[in-house]
Amino acid sequence: MIEPTGHSELDALLPRIAAIAGLDADALETEQTALLGRKAGVFTTLLKSLAELPIEQKRTFGAAVNRLKTAAEAAVDARRAALDEVAAQATRRAVDLSMPGRKRAIGGIHPTNAVVDEIVGIFRGLGFSVATGPEIETVWYNFGALNFPADHPAMDVHDTLYVDVAPAAGEQGDPTLLLRTHTSPVQIRVLQETPPPVRVVMPGMVYRKDPFDPSHAPAFLQIEGLAVDTDITFVDLKATLAHFARSFFGAHTVVRFRPSFFPFTEPSAEMDIQCRLCAGKGCPACKGTGWMEILGCGMVHPNVLASAGLDPEQVSGWAFGMGPQRMAMQRYDIRDIRTLYEGDMRVLEQFR
Ligand code: PHE
Repeated sequence: MIEPTGHSELDALLPRIAAIAGLDADALETEQTALLGRKAGVFTTLLKSLAELPIEQKRTFGAAVNRLKTAAEAAVDARRAALDEVAAQATRRAVDLSMPGRKRAIGGIHPTNAVVDEIVGIFRGLGFSVATGPEIETVWYNFGALNFPADHPAMDVHDTLYVDVAPAAGEQGDPTLLLRTHTSPVQIRVLQETPPPVRVVMPGMVYRKDPFDPSHAPAFLQIEGLAVDTDITFVDLKATLAHFARSFFGAHTVVRFRPSFFPFTEPSAEMDIQCRLCAGKGCPACKGTGWMEILGCGMVHPNVLASAGLDPEQVSGWAFGMGPQRMAMQRYDIRDIRTLYEGDMRVLEQFR
């Protein structure tokens, strides 16, 4: 606190000097000039007025003015120091926008999943829905219901991984358990649950006793497709699958259908696309043939419709099965399927 001077004119300044401690930076600047300005400040004016005072008043009044002036200067200095410290603290806390950010590893969609999503998306666009089935299947769903003869070589333990667990009671047909060797058993499961019309794609993992080499894997993905309705024909199959090939590989993709054989389709075909690397001339990628096999397909065999409880006289259908990993390899020029299993960041980062 500043001692009053006893001069009412001067003591009127005391609250003003006390208020300096609460001023912001701009107000402090203004008040400093108003009070302490060398030309027109309050104190300069007061000191000038001393000249008109009688000598004995000059001393006491002059001393009082100087005491208040010193107090005002001290208050201004203290307030400025306090404001500077607040500003310095704010700068220390502030975010430095010029500092480079910390790199964070963000996940990406694996190329295999990206291709599965894209293929499923194309069929969704045509009105297909999506279904899945169990990876542990019975012999009946995987083979019997699909019109495999009882002695078919695919059922051999050399090709199929059987599961050494007692089968559940009450299963239809041969209940022996195995790891499904294709997604075709999901056709039967869907047809048993959904009355036609049916349009469905069924992605999932399948298992075979294959080596793990550049072109084989013991566990790999398939996408099954199925359309069952009254009056479904081979024309529907060709048009739908050709549309799919052009959606996935590009509008100018050339396709061909080759006769083939599967126990569960009749007639059966394989769809090839013209090799995109050599435009059909023949190159190492297509092994000189000019064509690349994309999928197996055909009209659903009447015995398969009957296995699922449908009347082959009333409904017909077509089905296909394709390997999305093979298609990812073709799309991205991946030469070894094992690349898709290894999770090597140097590879995956190229697909972010
Ligand atoms: N299931 C067959 C395979 O694994 C593919 C296929 C599915 C063929 C549907 C025709 C119809 O090779």
